[in-house]
Amino acid sequence: MNGKPRILVTRRTFDEVLSDLRRDFEVEDRQHEARPLDAALLKSRLADKDGVMLAPGEVLDASMLAAAPRLKVVAVAAVGYNTVDVAACTARGVLVTHTPDVLNNTTADMAWALMLAAARRITEAERWLRAGQWQGINFGEMWGVDVHHATLGILGLGRIGRAIARRAAGFDMEVIYHSRRRVDAEIEAETRASHVGFDELLARSDFLMLILPYTPQSHHLIGAAALARMKASAILVNVARGGIVDDAALIDALRNRRIAGAGLDVYEGEPALHRGFLELDNVVLSPHLGSATAATRLAMARLAARNLRAALTGGVPPTPVNRVG
Ligand code: GLV
Repeated sequence: MNGKPRILVTRRTFDEVLSDLRRDFEVEDRQHEARPLDAALLKSRLADKDGVMLAPGEVLDASMLAAAPRLKVVAVAAVGYNTVDVAACTARGVLVTHTPDVLNNTTADMAWALMLAAARRITEAERWLRAGQWQGINFGEMWGVDVHHATLGILGLGRIGRAIARRAAGFDMEVIYHSRRRVDAEIEAETRASHVGFDELLARSDFLMLILPYTPQSHHLIGAAALARMKASAILVNVARGGIVDDAALIDALRNRRIAGAGLDVYEGEPALHRGFLELDNVVLSPHLGSATAATRLAMARLAARNLRAALTGGVPPTPVNRVG
């Protein structure tokens, strides 16, 4: 055994990131494991580690922390860190870091991909075509709705929300947003987004994009009551987190055409999926791919590694979530 700090990288990552980390650390990796670590295994693996690089959505709770006496840093390779008990980490003096900014444009592209696919019924039409149903162009078939000149509503005008809003200029859309705190006037001007109340956002959006953090306050923010206030022609897009939407209520609204459609990248309890979604044609489903391009995943892994290294070698981690001693 050598004297280097020990770190765990919980999921397959880039070889170059691992080799770089190996210069300073004894690294336990999962390069040849297809399956994610389950909670019990993660807990046992953390027992002798000084640092861990977590993948998006991996849970690190107070009981795991208690079983990891040497742990000094939790570097989440994601912007969202809702599955990490940050309060427990702070109380124990464990630094938590994440990877903001490097994924803004990639995630905004994904939000737009889902919006356009839902509006133009791309996945439904492809299933139909693959099933051999297409008999030639029929003027009255597979009508979608226009994205251009429609009203884009954004719930949460943070870093990714702004990147989503900026793209709307090319589609001549009106952009409205709601967030707990109104953003600076320069950001509103740059994104051409007007602040409205939550109810007005629901009532006016032709496309409603959810891009806010998952917190106790945002849990089921989009449930039956909110869905009932949306236009019957509206399309909902969620690239934020499962749990912000009440999936059972959304399925009911989609089934009954209370709203027209949805594009979803995230789900309550993912990777489990509410079976009801699979029976519906008016929803486009993707498996949490918001930041999934090679370039962006590399940038995220590198940033998570920089955070780890800095935290364990007396440097200044570039993107901390909490402040510790
Ligand atoms: C992915 O969902 C992330 O939070 O980066």
